[in-house]
Amino acid sequence: MNILGINAYHGNSSAAIVCDGRLVAAVEEERFNRVKYAAGFPAQAIRYCLAEAGLRLEEVDHVAIPRNPWARLLTKLFYAARMPRFARERAKVLTRFAGIPEQLSRALDVAPERLRARFHRVEHHQAHLASTFFVSPFEQAAVLSADGLGDFASTMWATGEGNRMRVHGAIAFPHSLGLYYTALTQYLGFRKYGDEYKVMGLAAYGEPEFLEQFQSIVRSNGRGFRLGLEYFIHHRQGAEMSWSDSGKTPELGRLFSDQLAERLGPTRDPAAPVEQRHRNLAASMQARLEEVLFGLLKHLHGATRQKAVCLAGGVAFNCVANGKIFDRTPFEDVFVQPAAGDAGLAVGAAFYVLHQILGRPRSFVMDHAYWGPGYAQQEIRQAVERSNLAGQGMQIAELPEEELMRATAQEIAGGKILGWFQGRAEWGPRALGNRSIVADPRRAEMKDILNRRVKHREVFRPFAPSILEEATGEYFEKSHPSPFMTLAYAVRPEKRAAIPAPTHVDGTGRLQTVSRAANPRYWRLIRAFADLTGVPVVLNTSFNDNEPIGCRPEEAIDCFLRTQMDALVLGDLLIRKPAGAPPNAGPPR
Ligand SMILES: [Fe+2]
Repeated sequence: MNILGINAYHGNSSAAIVCDGRLVAAVEEERFNRVKYAAGFPAQAIRYCLAEAGLRLEEVDHVAIPRNPWARLLTKLFYAARMPRFARERAKVLTRFAGIPEQLSRALDVAPERLRARFHRVEHHQAHLASTFFVSPFEQAAVLSADGLGDFASTMWATGEGNRMRVHGAIAFPHSLGLYYTALTQYLGFRKYGDEYKVMGLAAYGEPEFLEQFQSIVRSNGRGFRLGLEYFIHHRQGAEMSWSDSGKTPELGRLFSDQLAERLGPTRDPAAPVEQRHRNLAASMQARLEEVLFGLLKHLHGATRQKAVCLAGGVAFNCVANGKIFDRTPFEDVFVQPAAGDAGLAVGAAFYVLHQILGRPRSFVMDHAYWGPGYAQQEIRQAVERSNLAGQGMQIAELPEEELMRATAQEIAGGKILGWFQGRAEWGPRALGNRSIVADPRRAEMKDILNRRVKHREVFRPFAPSILEEATGEYFEKSHPSPFMTLAYAVRPEKRAAIPAPTHVDGTGRLQTVSRAANPRYWRLIRAFADLTGVPVVLNTSFNDNEPIGCRPEEAIDCFLRTQMDALVLGDLLIRKPAGAPPNAGPPR
């Protein structure tokens, strides 16, 4: 039985295909159309998923769409009556969603009468819950979804048992932890869609001196929470969102009111320098998020008495908070799948249909993140030939496994910046050793070098460590696996000097634990680096420069040539820029 999940007309549009109970492919549209966080209709992602599964659209039995226009209808009508612009937006959304079957037929060039699939609408947060629990290793668990907003709710919690979930509660519009974080991110001068993680990085540089003010911005009785609505405008004016166009990154209108600046001081202009006050505001915002989130989680633990918790929704990307769950809540085990945000809805909706609607048993655990496109060595060779790398003086060597690992580890240990392109692309926003840039974690200056030569990111954003899973406890104060870079732990004080480049200013690292089973080749690379240096860690950042992560070999080669990376491994090929080559000036910005 084949189930196609589609997250359309929403940020991070994506598709996933589940065949006979197992995930076969999942990918975001941005990897194909090269538009970060692309919304719109994910036509290319759907085509890829069907091709990977070897299916024609006519062979799909069910299509799962993570949106239910009937959910919270009364609340929607109430706000529609108060806000005409909001009512017009809702009407447009309904029309677009009603047209998905036709859109699908058109995109795949299949006559509508030839489709046999049943279409299912799954409420946004139920799809989030399903996206984590149904692919988790747990037979039972507490489940929490928290994000900006979807189907007029921001938060939902449930108990998962076997192939069923029971929802216990939800928090509806306009109260939202995700919108709180986004509003404060905007207030701090970071206005782009998806900038929240920058503020999370900034928070580590500050002290939560404004915590008391933030306790009135998000109010909590220890169980649920409410926003201090005087500081926000989305409930009065609606929030402008551009979800329909896949050709540009979504934009979100301003969410905070003038009263926020009266309470906290002037907003930061995006062009203005970041000062200590901003760092302290970011730290206070993060501290308040954690207080409220841990309150919710403790309540959820009390209500469900589960040992494990599964998280989803944009808030579940807060790796700093996630890493503290073991100490600040009674939960002993945590699972967050790599596409915890809205891209993950495609997977969630498909598994919701499989289990919650069709009642099929569970037979799948997402134990790795490699669900995107992969390329055969022959295709890689052809891409290299087309790029005429040899003609530009590059040294190109196709090496057997062991030699490739040794030579690559030597490049990294020698301080080179290395592009690393292997196997199938990662699902979710983190590069996890298949579309990564890898560097030496022992060199404190590597962070600045990477930023100057390749990544061009804000100086306060940390880089992440990838560590051999078996060495986790030796370097970090927790050893619970974090295969998808969704948890941050404190680096052991005695190890901070050993891996300064991916250790954040507060002594933590947003680590990826690499197991031999999940990614044998990346594991062997880190093993080879450890043999050479004694350190079983590499610095890992995504293979891109302010663009969607490279998907095809061509994009990897383009990024390699455009930036000042030193070497590139594409499958079995090791490519080095000529020694003494004048440094590439990089793209103007
Ligand atoms: Fe969401």
